[in-house]
Amino acid sequence: MPTIVPYTFEKKEEKVIDFISLIKNMKVLIATEKPFAQKAVNGIKEILEAADMQVVLLEKYTDKAQLLEAVADVDAMIVRSDKVTAEVMDAARNLKIVVRAGAGFDNVDCCEAKRRGIVVMNTPGQNSNAVAELALAMMIFMSRNEFTPGTGSEIKGKTLAIHAYGNVGRLVGCKGKALGMNVIAYDPFVSDCNVFTCDGVEKVESLDELYSRADFLSLHIPATEQTKGSIGYELLTRMPKGATLVNTARKEVIDEQGLKRALAEREDLKYVTDVAPECAQELCECFGKRFFATPKKMGAETAEANINAGLAAARQIVDYFTTGNTRFQVNK
Ligand code: 3PG
Repeated sequence: MPTIVPYTFEKKEEKVIDFISLIKNMKVLIATEKPFAQKAVNGIKEILEAADMQVVLLEKYTDKAQLLEAVADVDAMIVRSDKVTAEVMDAARNLKIVVRAGAGFDNVDCCEAKRRGIVVMNTPGQNSNAVAELALAMMIFMSRNEFTPGTGSEIKGKTLAIHAYGNVGRLVGCKGKALGMNVIAYDPFVSDCNVFTCDGVEKVESLDELYSRADFLSLHIPATEQTKGSIGYELLTRMPKGATLVNTARKEVIDEQGLKRALAEREDLKYVTDVAPECAQELCECFGKRFFATPKKMGAETAEANINAGLAAARQIVDYFTTGNTRFQVNK
C-alpha cells in the first residue's frame, strides 16, 4: 500500500503563496465518457487556462484503461457519472481534487478519497432545471401513450408527489404547479416548512401517504446505503389506480424484483425512468407501453446544464487551489 500524503492548507499564509506558483504547472483532466457540449468544454478550458492550469480532455472513452492512463499525472479531475474508484486513485498519484459536475456523487468513492486526502466536490443545483424539465416531460409522454395513437390523459388536476424536496424536487414541484397539478412532497431532511408553503406545495409526513396519493410519483433521492433498493413492492402497490412512477434519480434506489412484481400484479401501474434498470429488457417485453427507459441517461443532457455544471466545476477547482475554499466538498 503506497504512502499517502494528504494535501492540506495548513500553515496558511506561506502555503497559499506556494500554491499560487504551483498552480501554473497543475494539470486538470476533464474525463467524460458522456461528453459535455463543446461550449461547456470551451468555457471550462477558458477558466482553467486563465489560472495558468493545463487542461487534458478525455471524452467518450470506452475502456477503463484509457482513464487509468489519463489520470497518471493530473492534479484535479472534472467528471460526470464517470466512476472514480480506488483503482483510479491508485493510478492518479498527484490527484488532489475531484469535482463531479453534477449533483449525485455516488460514482466517486468518497471514503477512499478522504482517506487519501483527496477533496471531492459536486456542483449542486447547476443541472437541476434540465432534470426537472425531463421529469415533467416523462409524465406527459406516459400520459399520451408514448406519443402513439390513442386517447391519452392530461396531467392538469392530477396529484404530483415528490419524493425528496431538494434542488430538483423543488423545481419539479413548481413546474407541476404551473401546469395545474396538485403537488405534495415528502422530505424528512427539510425541516423548514416555509420551503414547502412558499412554493404552494403540501408537505406530507410519511412515505405511505405520499405514495398512496400519487398519480405521478417523482423520485429525487440520492443512491446511498440507506436508499438503495428502498423503493419496492410495498410502496409501489400503495399508489392509486393508473399511477406512474417517474425516476430521474438513480436506478439503484429501486428494488427491481419488487418493481416487477408490482407491475405484474397491477396492470394499471406505469414506470418511466431515465436510468434503465438491469431488468429493462424483461420489463419491455412483459409490460409494453407501461414501461419506458431512456437509452442513455439524459436528465442533464442540455447545453445549459453542461455549461452551468462544467463552468462551476472549473471555478471550484481554481478557487480551491487559490483560496482553499471547500464549500462544496462532500467528503469532509
Ligand atoms: C447528476 O447527478 O447530476 C445527474 O444524474 C447528471 O448526471 P450526468 O452528468 O452523468 O448526466
